Parts: sequence; C-alpha cells; structure tokens
Amino acid sequence: MVDLRAQYDKIATEIDAAIKSVLESTAFIKGPDVRLFEEELQAYMGVKHVVSCANGTDALQLAMMVLGLKPGDEVITTNFTFIASIEVVALLGFKLVIVDPEPGNFNISVDAIRKAVTPRTKAIIPVHLFGQCCDMESIMDLAAEHNLYVIEDAAQATGTDYFFKDGSSKKAGTIGLIGTTSFFPSKNLGCYGDGGAIYTNDDALARKLRSIANHGMKVRYHYDDIGINSRLDTIQAAILRVKLRYLSQFNEARRRVAAAYDDAFSRCNSISTPERMGYSSHIFHQYTIKVKDGKRDALKAYLDSVEIPSMVYYPGPLHMQEAYRYLGYSEIDFPVTSALCSEVLSLPMHPDMEKDQIDYITSGILKFFDK
Ligand SMILES: Cc1ncc(COP(=O)(O)O)c(C=O)c1O
Repeated sequence: MVDLRAQYDKIATEIDAAIKSVLESTAFIKGPDVRLFEEELQAYMGVKHVVSCANGTDALQLAMMVLGLKPGDEVITTNFTFIASIEVVALLGFKLVIVDPEPGNFNISVDAIRKAVTPRTKAIIPVHLFGQCCDMESIMDLAAEHNLYVIEDAAQATGTDYFFKDGSSKKAGTIGLIGTTSFFPSKNLGCYGDGGAIYTNDDALARKLRSIANHGMKVRYHYDDIGINSRLDTIQAAILRVKLRYLSQFNEARRRVAAAYDDAFSRCNSISTPERMGYSSHIFHQYTIKVKDGKRDALKAYLDSVEIPSMVYYPGPLHMQEAYRYLGYSEIDFPVTSALCSEVLSLPMHPDMEKDQIDYITSGILKFFDK
C-alpha cells in the first residue's frame, strides 16, 4: 500500500545525517530538533503554535483534556473513521455521540451533526478523512451558533488546504480551536516510529497543552494540571524536519497518482472514484473507491490472488464494535456508514509509484470487471 523503503532511499543521505547528529548530541528527549521542527511546522501550517507529542491518539487526548469538559458532556464525531478519533472521548468519560458521514466524500455530515446537537453538546471532532477536508465553514458556523469547541482530527490531512467562500484558505487542522495530527510512518508526513502534534492559535491553550503533555508541569517539579507523558522523540523530530521539506512535492506526486487512477476508472460503471469537494484540496492519504453491486469482497479476493495490495478502511462500523456496544446504538442506526463499510476499497497510494505499477493495478481491476 505504501513504499517507505523507496522514499527512504531517495532522502537517505539527509535522514542519516539528521539521525547521526542527534546520536552524537545525545539530546534524545526535548533536544533542539523538537523545537526547531515545531517552528518549521508552524510556518508551513500558518499556525501560531505547534505542540508536539508522542502520537496522534495522544494529540486527540490532550486536546480533549485541555478544554475542561466534564463527564457526561457530549462530543459529536463521525462513525466512519479510525478508532482513535472516538476512543479518547470514551476514555475520558465524555458522552460519545457518533453520526453518519456523507456517502460521496466520506467526511462527517453537517446535517447529521445539526440533528445530534443537544443542550449538553460541548464539542465536535471533524475528521478530515483520507486527505480531504470536511465542510469546515458550515461546521464552524454551526459551532458558533451553539457555542461548541471544534477539534479537527487532521491526522490524514497534513498539507490539505481548505478554501473559504471569501477566497482565503487555511491548512486542515488550523481552522477550529485545536487541530491534531499523527506522524505514524505511513502518514503523508510520517516519521520512523510514533509521533504527533497539536495545532492552535490560542496562546493560553498552547501553554496548557505543553504542560499537560509534560506531566502537568510548567515549572520543574510543580504540577498545575493532571498530565501525561507524551513527547516527540528528538530523533523523530530530526527525521520530520527533513521530511517536511519534501511534503509539498510528495503530496503533489500523490495527486498525480490519483489523477491516473481517476482516468483509468472513468469508463468503469462498477466503480465510484473519490468525490472532490470545491472547498478543499486533496492530498490522497488514501485513494478510496466504492465498488458497486456488492462486488467489493470479490474484487479484493481477486486482487489478493494477483498480488495487488488493497485495504478496506474501515471494515466494521464503530457502533457495532464490542467495546462501543454500551452506547446502545442498533445496527440500522447508521445506514451510510454501514453501506460504506461494505463498498470501500483503498488502493496502493504513495509518492513513489511508477507508471507501470499504476497500469498493473488499474488493468488488474478493470480485468476483474470485464470478466
Ligand atoms: C484519523 C486518525 N486519527 C488519529 C490517528 C491516530 O494516530 P496515531 O496512530 O499516531 O496514534 C490516526 C492514525 O493512525 C488516524 O488515521
């Protein structure tokens, strides 16, 4: 699905030098590269504060911890996402309210959010799935109307631009009060282990987030908040400084792969290619098709048999997972999520895909439907 080796080979000299310099400095925790990476990412994202942390799940947890929510406060998010987006809400004892996404672009439905808002709702977590932004302008308007916090899960959208109606634009993750991301190796900006970060333009929140991520400590051995230990390793920060310099180029290369897929599938009635929204660019963390007429699993089995990788993101609706049965939802409550779980298929996608690889994948898929 991804080729991390090909990418490493391309930038190996710079990566090796970056790692070696950390090894020689022995500044493994909170070394200078961590702050430098945060500053460089701030400039790239056009945001006032980047607070790095240990992974994208911690980033979400820290975001949820800093807001002073109380047990039972309601938080609305999408049912069609990676588990991390919803698990932190449950973990912290807030009431998880999940809603359906849009069937065409996979992102949370604003109408569904509107219907789910109650007087107890305190926050919305839009997840910019597969690399394209949610309808943020409508979400921000709705949040302003009901006085809700917006925490953007931008783990799959590092570098995506959101275009406002007035012609201005912002990076995904910098529109709401807080944004979060992950540097998991396969992410568009991925390190060589775990890593994550939080974005905000709010000075006080940034200070508190830094403190909570460091045991609740602003001054050494004085604890103002209950915190956790969530730090980005210096080695990972040094790697990310190198990879950030290539991010725009890599995202552009992914768009070229997506265009080639679009083109190849344009004449295949059994496949829906990913819908593009005018308010967002797309960085194709995943290229996800929908397979019609109940043929998804047969297509996947065929692709496995001819050694073409494909993955189902995500196979089971979250409300039917054992751990979340307590929410009391029934099987039929989320028709869009349930349909997507049986139709979606993500294809190999990375910046180093060659034309012959793309041709092999597309002709394999088209052959299956021609049979
Ligand atoms: C949408 C989304 N949110 C959160 C996460 C969690 O990130 P991490 O694996 O770094 O904890 C991921 C990815 O893994 C993700 O895809």
